[in-house]
Amino acid sequence: MYCACRTETLRGDKLKKYKIAVIPGDGIGPEIVDEGKKVIDAVSEKENFEIEWVEYPFGADHYIETGELLNEDSLKEMEKMNAIYLGALGDPRLEPGILEKGILLALRFYYDQYINLRPVKLLEGVDCPLKNKKPEDIDFVVVRENTEDFYVGIGNRAKEGKHRQELEVIRSIYSVKFGLDVELEGDEIAYQIGVVSRKGAERAIRYAFELAKRRGDSRVTSVDKANVLSHVYNFWRSIVEEVSKEYPGIDYEFNFVDAITMWFVKNPEWYQTIVTPNMFGDIITDLGAMIQGGLGFAPGGNINPDGVSMFEPIHGSAPKYKGMNVANPIATIWAGAMLVDEIGQEKAAKDIVSAIEEVIKEGKVRTKDLGGNASTSDMGDAIARKVKEI
Ligand code: IPM
Ligand code: MN
Repeated sequence: MYCACRTETLRGDKLKKYKIAVIPGDGIGPEIVDEGKKVIDAVSEKENFEIEWVEYPFGADHYIETGELLNEDSLKEMEKMNAIYLGALGDPRLEPGILEKGILLALRFYYDQYINLRPVKLLEGVDCPLKNKKPEDIDFVVVRENTEDFYVGIGNRAKEGKHRQELEVIRSIYSVKFGLDVELEGDEIAYQIGVVSRKGAERAIRYAFELAKRRGDSRVTSVDKANVLSHVYNFWRSIVEEVSKEYPGIDYEFNFVDAITMWFVKNPEWYQTIVTPNMFGDIITDLGAMIQGGLGFAPGGNINPDGVSMFEPIHGSAPKYKGMNVANPIATIWAGAMLVDEIGQEKAAKDIVSAIEEVIKEGKVRTKDLGGNASTSDMGDAIARKVKEI
């Protein structure tokens, strides 16, 4: 162990300290998050900062034991921390959606993490399922709006007859109530309402253009289905057009969501920065994960630029591999790189991604999904060792 004051005098700069909330969650969550913490601890020693990890038990076991999904005290505590590191949520003992909506989406909405940032980048040494595509061909970023669209979660079922139904969405930037007089002739129906707000869309779209500017991109691609879901997505389009006027050096284009799935496979090299409403962003980033080598490689950040952000792999909890020490922890380790970047340790973030890339290129440590038999912790150890050498 070393002491902070000594490090200070030795290196001449102040040891920075950060407090990070950790929610290991369900399934393989705890195993992969352990590896992510290991790598961040390794890089922090080298880059002269320190992390205090504060663990929270939220997930399936906690819910089954206590009936609690989240609690207000913990939410308030985490709000004061520098970031949240999340493993995975989801458990076959529970109905789908309970934990996903009750914890994951609840956290995204509570902290108003209005950006879901998902880099799609093929690292050197990773096998790509697309023929003849190289790392320079697959290197773009998806900015997914993260609080609205069909994710606002309002809708209902109605049976034949007359009913009054009240629906409500409460967000920090607006709240909206729908009082619906449903008069149904015929058999039972269900409906779901998607909401796009001017402020909500604008802040996500502006974030994307700003990011494109920082990356030196020449083009932003916006995704929608304005040819069919025209109310919400024509509105979205008009906001893209408005915001784009502030960025005369950056072109923009519109892609329909069905078409972009085709282009991801055919011409991924076309894409630079993509901005998308919530639901299409969810769908296209699973495809993005596959073209960057699989779900084992796809990290994501739920970002509130003025608040607390949360980082996680985009894959789920893979319950059948729970506790087996076989899952690939790279997506989580990479999400850890995004986390340290967001708290201001850019050099540490770059080092982590380089270490992942080096270990993959060397090819000695390969988890099951990569055709090897290295364990989750072997992979974490190798990347933690490498990050110190870089
Ligand atoms: C994701 C997941 C979540 C989403 C689910 C688990 C709620 O699929 O992070 O992509 O739809 O956003
Ligand atoms: Mn998803």
